[in-house]
Amino acid sequence: MTADDDIKIRCAELGVILAGARRGVAFTGAGISTECGIPDFRSPGGLWTRNRPIDFETFLTRRDMRDEAWRRRFAMEESFGGAQPGRGHRALARLVSENRFAGIVTQNIDGLHQAAGVPPDKLVELHGNTTYATCLACQARYEIGWVRLYFDASGGSAPDCQACDGPIKTATVSFGQPMPKEAMERARALTHGCDVFLVLGSSLVVWPAAGFPAAAKQRGATLVIVNREPTEFDAVADLVIHADIGDVLELSMGLHGN
Ligand code: APR
Repeated sequence: MTADDDIKIRCAELGVILAGARRGVAFTGAGISTECGIPDFRSPGGLWTRNRPIDFETFLTRRDMRDEAWRRRFAMEESFGGAQPGRGHRALARLVSENRFAGIVTQNIDGLHQAAGVPPDKLVELHGNTTYATCLACQARYEIGWVRLYFDASGGSAPDCQACDGPIKTATVSFGQPMPKEAMERARALTHGCDVFLVLGSSLVVWPAAGFPAAAKQRGATLVIVNREPTEFDAVADLVIHADIGDVLELSMGLHGN
């Protein structure tokens, strides 16, 4: 049997699992967005192979690193501001709309699940999202457009809150920053109640997010991991497919580009 035959058999198995899902949960990482032109973090050429992450403590204590964080955010805008949902996002939106999946827990901040039509009550953003900003001191909301105007007019300086002078940061969760309580609670509830837990495009190395697949498995869910590279949770999964997410879901769900 060729490697290709093996992938096809696994995709057929996934098709059966998805057809039988009634309370499925998808757990997505950056790998679901790479076909949309957004690089992931740890593959060759990924974001962390080009820039070291700016952790929360550094963001809070160093103004030059706040400037750098916003420079990176706007550079990101240039290269994938216009990204559209890919085959994986569309397939998941269909599983949710057909009530076969109860929700999606994502580590991504790119807003592509929302753009694919997943309603807010079916989506948990564990690491926040980058489509708006807040003051870290008083939680005032700032639109990215306003920050961009300030940043450009000031020659590349990060703005402070206009109400309380606190630091303004995109509504994402950085290393060392506390996880959003409500998102963690919603992710836990989905994970504990699901019958299928489908991991798509994550290296599963960042905690506490990486703990959800094993938690689902421990509670009796069928655990499926679709990822180009092996992960440390492959051994506990019921089904592992090391292939492209879009190809796998097209084959498994009998989708052809829709
Ligand atoms: N099909 C299948 N797998 C893919 C594809 C694809 N088209 N593209 C990339 N992958 C896989 C890569 O092989 C990699 O193992 O997706 C995985 C992405 O892993 P990471 O780059 O580590 O991204 P992620 O797991 O989402 O990172 C988790 O780390 O830096 C933090 O906050 C950041 O949310 C992020 C978290």
